[in-house]
Amino acid sequence: MSNSLGKLFKLTTFGESHGSAIGGIIDGCPAGIELDFKAIQYELNRRKPGQSKITTQRKEDDEVEFLSGIFEGKTTGTAIGFQIKNTNQKSKDYSHNTDVYRPSHADYTYDKKYGFRDHKGGGRSSARDTANWIVGGAIARQILINVNINAFTTSIGDINLEKPYQDLDLSKTENNIVRCPDNVISEKMINLIDNIRKQGDTIGGTITCVIKNVPIGLGEPVFDKLHANLGKAMLSINAVKGFEYGSGFSGAKMKGSRHNDIFNEDGSTQTNHSGGIQGGISNGMDIYFKVAFKPVATIMKKQQTINSKGEIVEIQGKGRHDPCVVPRAVPIVEALSAMVLVDLLLIHNARK
Ligand SMILES: Cc1cc2nc3c(=O)[nH]c(=O)nc-3n(C[C@H](O)[C@H](O)[C@H](O)COP(=O)(O)O)c2cc1C
Repeated sequence: MSNSLGKLFKLTTFGESHGSAIGGIIDGCPAGIELDFKAIQYELNRRKPGQSKITTQRKEDDEVEFLSGIFEGKTTGTAIGFQIKNTNQKSKDYSHNTDVYRPSHADYTYDKKYGFRDHKGGGRSSARDTANWIVGGAIARQILINVNINAFTTSIGDINLEKPYQDLDLSKTENNIVRCPDNVISEKMINLIDNIRKQGDTIGGTITCVIKNVPIGLGEPVFDKLHANLGKAMLSINAVKGFEYGSGFSGAKMKGSRHNDIFNEDGSTQTNHSGGIQGGISNGMDIYFKVAFKPVATIMKKQQTINSKGEIVEIQGKGRHDPCVVPRAVPIVEALSAMVLVDLLLIHNARK
């Protein structure tokens, strides 16, 4: 399997949803970073389950325990080992799908690839691992001192936040449980998720991420372009179906004369269809991108599926699941962005 992200700032993770613990090793973190442990826990709390009526009701404290690589509150430059204990597994909730594949989950492909699978909570395919990513990201953010990374919910189902990000007050993102920085639209999103949950169904949505103050020069042509690494990281998040940056798919409809970002004398540009990245390298303008999440697979309604013998059977989800993963994925998008940027920053600095 492939359990690591990054080249110089490298996070390697382990763990399953219903094992005793998850955790990881961060290799390549520079020495002497004075860690703010409260900031790390704050990010974990933003992702953790059971935080509101529109998330799964699984209750995990998600307290991270650091095992190595830190001395007197500072990183030592050696491997940072950490673990997060799983405390609220209810494996019986999964006894109904030991031999049955949930449609559009990872059950069928894991079984076919590895010959058998851990059916409890989806095993390694579970988004439980993303708690580890949050730890890596929260440390990465503490290296990126002046860089501001803000992700927020821009749509749930058909409800869209139409305003451009420049017209939003991104400090309001945490003011509501859906993490949309608009009081009116966020209410509509919350009601939609709640109704979908009551129907036993799930719904998807999009997250936009805006990154400001990125130094010029991050990104390594040709296969570690900044947008390629961001895209790979975002497409590694469970349930992600799409990634676009800058003008994205709408750029395909424009003429070059409109799409080109005209330079100001200082090298900044009058528009930013490039999304802060040209030739795979940051140009100092805001980086912005959008990530699309599907409605997750486990629904409480009956559906047709097959079992491992290829027989047609019926399945109905049980246990505690997210009706919409978008609100919990906002900090995950930020964490991965931070790790990608730190990795490319260290690589860029290494060539100086
Ligand atoms: C924060 C988060 C929570 C998730 N919770 C659930 C869940 O409760 N039920 C579910 O079926 N899928 C959930 N997923 C998605 C599955 O992990 C994912 O759909 C599955 O591993 C199959 O991978 P794929 O959708 O990327 O193909 C969650 C994803 C994220 C990001």
